[in-house]
Amino acid sequence: MKVLQTILGDDFLDEAPPQFKGGVLANVLGYSIFRTLYHNLGRIKPKKVKKEFQQYIDIMERDGILVIPDFFPEQQFKEIKKEFDDAYADWDPMYVNPDEFSKRQKDFPEYFHTIAEKIITPETRAFNEYFVKNELINAITESVVHKKIRLTPYRHFWYLKRRKLDKEGDKSFHNAAYPHADVFYPTIKVFLYLNDVDEKNAAYIFARGTHKLNLKRLLLEYKLSVRFAKDNNDVSTNDNDISYLGSKSESICGKANTLIISNNMGYHNRGFFSSLDPRQTAQLDFRNLETWRNRLSRTPDEKDLFSRAARKFVKYMDKAKKEKLRASLSNNNMS
Ligand SMILES: [Fe+2]
Repeated sequence: MKVLQTILGDDFLDEAPPQFKGGVLANVLGYSIFRTLYHNLGRIKPKKVKKEFQQYIDIMERDGILVIPDFFPEQQFKEIKKEFDDAYADWDPMYVNPDEFSKRQKDFPEYFHTIAEKIITPETRAFNEYFVKNELINAITESVVHKKIRLTPYRHFWYLKRRKLDKEGDKSFHNAAYPHADVFYPTIKVFLYLNDVDEKNAAYIFARGTHKLNLKRLLLEYKLSVRFAKDNNDVSTNDNDISYLGSKSESICGKANTLIISNNMGYHNRGFFSSLDPRQTAQLDFRNLETWRNRLSRTPDEKDLFSRAARKFVKYMDKAKKEKLRASLSNNNMS
């Protein structure tokens, strides 16, 4: 009965196309070029939106990034900031306990000894009402990625702070510190600065214009895909790749209440800390729009044949996955 699940795999519904895939030979033969073209079909340019949003779409199309200072009305911003402060009230960024490191933090222990990081998924009202359900953010996202938003995006409060200013700390890097594109198709991440952020407290870094698909970008994808298939290691790019694409990295500085909408098909990286000021942000990540779950998540009032079949299929896959998990847990308990 669970044939479909076996064929399609456990992560079928929730997996977005990854940046690199396939072996050396496939990539030497141009597999990544084929994937890049395929996943950009019909979405080289943003979709039309209503008139009052069009000016923002024009900037997204030209730069791949949009920065809006003083984004929320003062009162709304205060409410979001208060929810952030409440969420971190019991947390001391200066206290280090490696036993509590997340998997990601364990992979870069030196970096996370120097840098305090805590990520929270808030369930609070102002964050959800004003930020997650924001009409402008959602309209820009749907226009750039050409997908209807059917799932709630990944959403976080994110607190980063350097703990001390020593020479050692300058050497420890996290791989988000190197310029990279998240993927080779349009994808949106949103940052709301909750405090003043500049080059000294790790302002987001972006290379304007590098989100565009052109011949140079295709060749870069080709080169990186072959390199990745060979070492199976994280492929970092550098400033040469960015100048090859005709751009340069810039720190995106802004006061508290600055909104940044970024197409992370473009090259970007996390900034660096040369002060002890924290970087406090609220963030959205719309990568899940690329999944089958987004395509197939239909509301009960969508009664057409496809929607009904889609709902059944999602239910079936989720049930099959749960049963498999339960079976493997009970097997483990027996052994
Ligand atoms: Fe990234």
